[in-house]
Amino acid sequence: MSYASTKQLVQRACQAGTVIPAFNIPYLPMVEPVVKALKDCNSFGMLVVARLEWVKFESKSLEAVRDEYEKFKLPGHTRLHLDHVPVIDEDDLRVDYVGDISRAINAGYESVMVDGSRLPLAENIACTKEIVDMAHAAGIPVEAELGAVMGHEEGPLPPYEELFASGKGFTDPGEAKRFVEETGVDWLSVAIGNIHGAISAAAKGKQKVAARLNIEHLDRIHKTTGIPLVLHGGTGIRKEYIIDSIKHGIAKINVATAIRQPYEQTIGQGIPAAQAAVYAAMLTVIREDLETQDSANILNPEN
Ligand code: 13P
Repeated sequence: MSYASTKQLVQRACQAGTVIPAFNIPYLPMVEPVVKALKDCNSFGMLVVARLEWVKFESKSLEAVRDEYEKFKLPGHTRLHLDHVPVIDEDDLRVDYVGDISRAINAGYESVMVDGSRLPLAENIACTKEIVDMAHAAGIPVEAELGAVMGHEEGPLPPYEELFASGKGFTDPGEAKRFVEETGVDWLSVAIGNIHGAISAAAKGKQKVAARLNIEHLDRIHKTTGIPLVLHGGTGIRKEYIIDSIKHGIAKINVATAIRQPYEQTIGQGIPAAQAAVYAAMLTVIREDLETQDSANILNPEN
């Protein structure tokens, strides 16, 4: 049986007015309950790992996540995606992003992200274009980021309401148009009020603020770029904003904190208990927060 490519699936999500959730894997035993919940809810979703999850958490390497994924994958319900590989990381250090991303392509990842968002626009364009050329030659789509989706850095964030009201770091629609035209990127991660869950030791167990989204701003980016857009920081965004964002161009939503924290809170009782906690959290995200139950039928009628 032949299944749709990841690029086709994201396009179908846009057309069908649904979204593809992308679940982060900071701990390898999370793979099994994530896949099981997607199957049990008949939802489609991606399993993703970001560089910081093998450097600062326990997913070990992008190859280790691939190996675990291979044990449980279900082509009608899941795909494997490489999340944030930054050019400059959250500690301001330069990363061998070309090395990491080419390893992911060789390992069988079905789409990749390069994150040049800490760079000036022209450099972000140059780094993204380099990865687009490499990934497209291998036949896989690329996600990039423009604007500042904060939260991964050490230290306290500015107060959320101040950040939202000022629009500081929001993706600029004119820059986004140029970025997409000059890079040929497939999907764009945008900053419109969303923030990542904190990962510093002091803050990673804390509850996230209930973020809002500037939907008019999103709409401007959607109209100027015309490509599927991605929402990072998917945990804790107020539901009415999530549902509205899907009507205005968001085709993929990344979720990490909502399933990581239950794992960390229960791992003291052993891996099966932590996996059960992840499974329960997944059901809430799929059924209540994102409403992607049964999306596998719409996105993958080949099922
Ligand atoms: P949350 O931790 O807010 O769910 O964000 C996840 C994310 O965007 C990973 O790239």
